Amino acid sequence: MKIAMVGSGYVGLVSGACFADFGHEVVCIDKDQSKIDRLHDGIMPIYEPGLDALVETNVSAGRLTFTTDLAEGIKGASAIFIAVGTPSRRGDGHADLSFVYAVAEEIGANLSNDAVVVTKSTVPVGTGDEVERILKGSGTSHKVSIVSNPEFLREGAAIGDFKRPDRIVIGSEDDFGRDVMREVYRPLFLNESPILNVNRRSSELIKYAANAFLATKITFINEMADLCEKVGGNVQDVARGIGMDGRIGRKFLNAGPGYGGSCFPKDTLALLKTAEDHESPVRIVEAVVKVNESRKRAMGRKVIDALGGMKAARGKKVALLGLTFKPNTDDMRDSPSIAIAQALADAGAHVTAFDPEGMEQAMPLMPKVNMCESAYEAIEDADAVVIVTEWDVFRALDVSRIKKLVKTPIMVDLRNIYSPNEMRAAGFTYESIGRG
Ligand code: UDX
Repeated sequence: MKIAMVGSGYVGLVSGACFADFGHEVVCIDKDQSKIDRLHDGIMPIYEPGLDALVETNVSAGRLTFTTDLAEGIKGASAIFIAVGTPSRRGDGHADLSFVYAVAEEIGANLSNDAVVVTKSTVPVGTGDEVERILKGSGTSHKVSIVSNPEFLREGAAIGDFKRPDRIVIGSEDDFGRDVMREVYRPLFLNESPILNVNRRSSELIKYAANAFLATKITFINEMADLCEKVGGNVQDVARGIGMDGRIGRKFLNAGPGYGGSCFPKDTLALLKTAEDHESPVRIVEAVVKVNESRKRAMGRKVIDALGGMKAARGKKVALLGLTFKPNTDDMRDSPSIAIAQALADAGAHVTAFDPEGMEQAMPLMPKVNMCESAYEAIEDADAVVIVTEWDVFRALDVSRIKKLVKTPIMVDLRNIYSPNEMRAAGFTYESIGRG
């Protein structure tokens, strides 16, 4: 089967490469000529473990190609995926659908065979109806069906998530759409990945509801962590204790500096807008968004408190280890490190930082921060070391070496990757999240 993937960003490229790996013929299309040129040279526009090898294998096998020419790329494709960005619209938080609709127009104007058009981008409820209106209004004589098929890929684990999904959600209004999507995902349900066939609006809502629920779970445990600090509990034990209840589940109960990234912040806001438009408020998610925002700033204050308060923080040197919103990505979008670096700069502290992949993207977001070549370089003469992102390379740092390098042995571990007892025994003033 031939598949066209319009938009070769994170979701489009990962999905396209994985579909090709299943044996489909895939054309990834993007307007950005330099991105397509770099892909032809084997250079990935994003950092995702395993992606370059997957792309190379499938390009060599002739199953994966790249082009800027949409008309040529969609020719003969039975499924045309729309995987372009839906960023938060400046000002009102609504998802900006202009890219999705522009692609729909272009597909309509160039369709040369019957096809299913699939929205893979995260789009608010009702977007499929509008895409259908655009395509059917384009005057095409070919049969088209508009299907919603949201992605649930985690950055850093996207290929595994694609190939072994918890579920595949297909939102379709007719048999043509369902049948073609069955063929598209046939290699996966031979692996017994469950397919959920629902109507298009439910499918669109599933994506937002899933992300909002996960954001709520994280925010809940973060507030439990704050309470643990007040009452002398240990949030990791509390998370284990509630997570062993199968109705709650263990995952996404790691307390930390607040969620960031390209999905949760944007999708929770967009869900609130949809809810507002339909006068059906989702108050829990409203609270989650507010609590998470204030938490990121509070993490900066936590570091300042560890230094002895605002006055003491002035002129101190603070080393941030990890800047990306989570490990195994170079993505800085809505990362808690941005608010933390800002709070420290506002308090007059000098900030150094090291991140294995994110420094290039971080630099314009935190121009005052001094980016270093390694964790140890960042730590030198520091008055406090802050673990912001739990990259594996920070899990087994040489603690005695750190102790010798720093000016004052203060560590603020916002990801709970070190043991309080061990760090205190090693002579550190050690603060973490929700562990007394
Ligand atoms: C998320 C969803 O998991 C994915 O299904 C969806 O398609 C896109 O959004 P992603 O943004 O890549 O994926 O990251 P994820 O691993 O979900 O983490 C999001 C944020 O939550 C990160 O900032 C992470 O540090 C934080 N988090 C996650 C916690 O603080 N605690 C947890 O227990 C889990």
